[in-house]
Amino acid sequence: MQGDRLIPVVVAGATGKTGSAVGRAIYQAPDMELLGAISRRYAGVSLGAAWGEPALTLLVEADLEVISAPYAVLVDFTEPDSAFHRLMEAISRGWDIVVGTTGFAPEAREKIASAVEDQGVGAAIIANFSLGAWVAERLAREASRYFQAVEVTEGHHAGKKDRPSGTARAMASLLGESLRRPPESIPVHSLRLPGMVAHQAVIFGAQGQMLTIRHDVHDRTAYVDGVLAAVRRVHGLGGRVVNDLGEILDPPH
Ligand SMILES: NC(=O)c1ccc[n+]([C@@H]2O[C@H](COP(=O)([O-])OP(=O)(O)OC[C@H]3O[C@@H](n4cnc5c(N)ncnc54)[C@H](OP(=O)(O)O)[C@@H]3O)[C@@H](O)[C@H]2O)c1
Repeated sequence: MQGDRLIPVVVAGATGKTGSAVGRAIYQAPDMELLGAISRRYAGVSLGAAWGEPALTLLVEADLEVISAPYAVLVDFTEPDSAFHRLMEAISRGWDIVVGTTGFAPEAREKIASAVEDQGVGAAIIANFSLGAWVAERLAREASRYFQAVEVTEGHHAGKKDRPSGTARAMASLLGESLRRPPESIPVHSLRLPGMVAHQAVIFGAQGQMLTIRHDVHDRTAYVDGVLAAVRRVHGLGGRVVNDLGEILDPPH
């Protein structure tokens, strides 16, 4: 709730694997109002039909242009090309953005960050909204104080487009920074297989021993708490892009 008003939210990718888990949680949250849903294949169909919830009559739209709300938080779990244009449109309208979509080119990230700053809106662009991934990063940072040899393995469902995952790239960058090495020097191995959801292991090796920090997501409700927290806090980030879930879960005082 912002003051005593419900937080209006539009979910892009609301019919996808992650967007539907996140969208359902937003729909059920007592302090939020699901104002809009975006997907190409379900455009013109009720979101309830897509989700198997007949009571939900909200129509799915093909893109943001036709959603005329004066303000909303745009939550995006789609793919990077369409997301870039949608996010720039949302920012130009003064909306705050919560972005789970991964695989943006560095130039796209820079353009989004500069638009966020110019418009003074809030942005949470977070490669992994699950609590476990964030704790794994903290543990890996601590372990890298004592272990120098490290490699990362990540595995995702066969349909995932980017490789390595945004989470694995963020982990390699964190390890590189901590070990004072270029992030490209940290090997990252990617698997794309049916049966996998989202899995990552950071494996440290030293004389006579190994240490593995492993995180497994078994279903996409793992991302829900992080996304809801970001929707509640994003308005307060005016003009800033936050990439660290820790800043959302545990904001500096
Ligand atoms: N940050 C995190 O914690 C996190 C967690 C999980 C996933 N992700 C990321 O979230 C994204 C989605 O992953 P997913 O596994 O949920 O994918 P998915 O199941 O394929 O869902 C993609 C959704 O986006 C919609 N979409 C795709 N292209 C679109 C376009 N041009 N215009 C409008 N809607 C479009 C799809 O609907 P239509 O095809 O009908 O348009 C669908 O609803 C990926 O980038 C993934 O890496 C991030």
